[in-house]
Amino acid sequence: MNSDLGMELAGRVTRAIQAATGLVLTHEEALVRPSARAGVDYQCDGAMSLGKKLGKAPREIAAQLVEQLDSDDLIGEATVAGPGFVNLVLGTEALQDKANALLDDPRFGVTEAKPRRIAIDYGSPNVAKEMHVGHLRSAIIGDALARMLRFAGHEVLPHNHLGDWGTPFGMLIEHLPEVTGDIADLNAFYREARARFDADPEFADRARKRVVLLQSGDEPTLRRWQQLVDESLKHFDEVYELLGVRLTREDVYGESFYNPYLDGVVEALEGISEISDGAVCVFPEGFTNREGDRLPLIVRKRDGGYGYAATDFATFRYWTGERGATDLLYVVGTPQAQHFAMLFAVCRQAGWLTGEHHAEHLGFGSVLGEDGKMMKTRAGKSIRLVELLTEAVDRAAAIVAERSTLPEAEQAAVARAIGIGAAKYADLSSDRERDYTFSYDRMLAMEGNTNVYLQYANARGRSILAKSDEDGGPILLTEPQERELVLTLLRFPSAFATALESYAPHKLCTYLYDLATAFSQFYTHCNVLKEENAEVRKSRLSLARLSSDALVLGLSLLGIETPQRL
Ligand code: ARG
Repeated sequence: MNSDLGMELAGRVTRAIQAATGLVLTHEEALVRPSARAGVDYQCDGAMSLGKKLGKAPREIAAQLVEQLDSDDLIGEATVAGPGFVNLVLGTEALQDKANALLDDPRFGVTEAKPRRIAIDYGSPNVAKEMHVGHLRSAIIGDALARMLRFAGHEVLPHNHLGDWGTPFGMLIEHLPEVTGDIADLNAFYREARARFDADPEFADRARKRVVLLQSGDEPTLRRWQQLVDESLKHFDEVYELLGVRLTREDVYGESFYNPYLDGVVEALEGISEISDGAVCVFPEGFTNREGDRLPLIVRKRDGGYGYAATDFATFRYWTGERGATDLLYVVGTPQAQHFAMLFAVCRQAGWLTGEHHAEHLGFGSVLGEDGKMMKTRAGKSIRLVELLTEAVDRAAAIVAERSTLPEAEQAAVARAIGIGAAKYADLSSDRERDYTFSYDRMLAMEGNTNVYLQYANARGRSILAKSDEDGGPILLTEPQERELVLTLLRFPSAFATALESYAPHKLCTYLYDLATAFSQFYTHCNVLKEENAEVRKSRLSLARLSSDALVLGLSLLGIETPQRL
């Protein structure tokens, strides 16, 4: 279990509450949090609601708490404030000791969890189509979560559930020989095939026969199919590379991969499936439409074909069964929430999803343009991802050119890191379940919770260190800004744990922003290099190093690069 200063204090306070009132509260209920009041480190607001509950004046309870909170090295002073708050001022030496312990802890106090084997589905674009902004979100969020889970000590099995199978491939494969040259414009290729399918019944008929050939493993058909998949993968790899998302060819487990497992799914579901309209269906309990009719997941279509749901059953069985995953996470847009809820309900009924497992759909909202509408190009097509990211890099280059003193060659690399990082950070720092508005101006802003702000704080730290030829020394707290910075650094473990608990990278971003802010306050108020007292100067060098290292670690957990110089 991660334990940091805040958790330790919450523990002390809940024990004091129990001693004073006999009530056992959770850490959350005790409401212990960092305080914004000057000269106060932490505050506890739990007495306010306890007063109501016990029919006593909150101030009276707060006074009892203070009595129970024996002051010692850590809790230097506990006092009652206002209508019933408890203010905590921590012992400076105890804080220094805790800060010094961070100096040789590259994990910043984050301990390793009991490892679970976690299969995480992210990326998951569709073959023969350009990846769109939704797939961008899935890749960015999934990659960040995979990094955070690994850091927490888990075994992570990423899998990219490519849409590379099913009926559309009949028309795509049938259309392929008609295309001369390049199919790099995958969207155009898809549209042409679709148009022919709709307009030409003879073509449509051939396309349908082609699906049957594909599913029965016909060699020439498979060869053409592979050609389409390869062309798409080239494009996907390009986007992942540009993004710094760690999804490789080895992580590709497309829908086609599960084809050999589909008959087994039908068999395994025999006890709970029924025939409806000629199709094999399962009707998980509690899912109905507006008319009150039960909703099905189709296991096998009337014509014997398999679809999206059947493949997801096979996927679930494969990762829990053959790969021994304990957790199954799916980073997929919220419009598919019902699909996953139904899927999990059936898996539970079938006994595949047990109390030992954890399965969760990690939904995310749509990407909106600044007009608040779904992001599209002017022609109404989905916007091309590579163009979107290239523009972010171009705009970052303009910012870097204006402020940077670096040689031009280095500036280009920095602009790339900052631009891509800005696009990723803007996505990750907003609550994943909400819709997210894509705005270059906002993502590249110098102030506020942005990648650029964090990068400048880190680069400032690195530059202070680069200018000094001294080593840092033990931490001494002399100024309030140093104290605030240390209090913030000591929150790393609980901030990380809270973010991971709800698979919410934005909570880690909020923390990193607090940290960058505390660090900026520190270096604007406290001189580092020109400080005359050698012990204080060396302590400040240590604080600069710790702050920079914590920012680098935090951003790396989000998949964001940190240039040393800007
Ligand atoms: N390819 C799908 C889409 O673009 C997403 C697949 C998500 N993963 C899954 N196991 N169903 O909508």
